[in-house]
Amino acid sequence: MRKLTALVTGASSGIGKATALDLHNHGFTVYAASRRIEMMQDLANEGIHALSLDVTDEDSICACVFSITQEQGNIDILVNAAGYGSFGSIEDVSLDEARRQFDVNLFGVARLIQLVIPGMRANHFGKIVNISSMAGKVWLPFGGWYHATKFALEGFSDSLRVELKPMGIDVILIEPGGIKTDWGIIAAENLRNTSADGVYAKKRYPGFQQHGKAL
Ligand SMILES: NC(=O)c1ccc[n+]([C@@H]2O[C@H](COP(=O)([O-])OP(=O)(O)OC[C@H]3O[C@@H](n4cnc5c(N)ncnc54)[C@H](OP(=O)(O)O)[C@@H]3O)[C@@H](O)[C@H]2O)c1
Repeated sequence: MRKLTALVTGASSGIGKATALDLHNHGFTVYAASRRIEMMQDLANEGIHALSLDVTDEDSICACVFSITQEQGNIDILVNAAGYGSFGSIEDVSLDEARRQFDVNLFGVARLIQLVIPGMRANHFGKIVNISSMAGKVWLPFGGWYHATKFALEGFSDSLRVELKPMGIDVILIEPGGIKTDWGIIAAENLRNTSADGVYAKKRYPGFQQHGKAL
């Protein structure tokens, strides 16, 4: 039987890296993708294919999918783990940064999905795994833009699941709680850079001080 092929984004770190390794250890042919290809050398040493991918760049997305389908014929499993949190007050975070966050957390996911659907449909088989978050269900102040991307990913995935079910393609939404990865470091750094010195830092917010450390 043909080995199933998986593409895992965000594989240079955290959840994506662990997922790529786990799929490899379970016998899948795995392509790990991220911008920092050097951070996937450990995966390459295990026999995982490491590919450069910026999910905000159309050419990069197309080249990544093309090179896998050229080598393997199809992508059977897509795990969308690339993502980040750009925290800060809604007033302070620029719209450019908010859009960039949507580009990574929603539109990059969506574009990859558009490109893998035709092959999955032809095989009447596919698994699309979107890493959302508990932040797609609940919210905290200063995470407004991040929550907006994850709430959007939830609605998008739920709708997509119903569209693709008759074609034999499963859409799976994962909603992790807090996991110790670089995610928290990046979110806290963004929060410090945008709102740590402003008017918001002088106020107290219910439910925030005990969860968020950065302000
Ligand atoms: N950690 C948590 O507590 C937690 C909880 C719930 C949900 N999540 C979600 O889980 C997912 C993975 O997060 P993590 O915790 O594993 O964080 P992480 O360790 O910081 O990993 C994030 C990954 O996203 C990739 N990425 C960021 N921007 C990218 C871009 N433009 N193009 C391609 N790849 C990009 C990074 O790779 P490069 O920088 O090398 O491109 C990195 O591999 C995210 O969607 C996050 O929102 C995390």
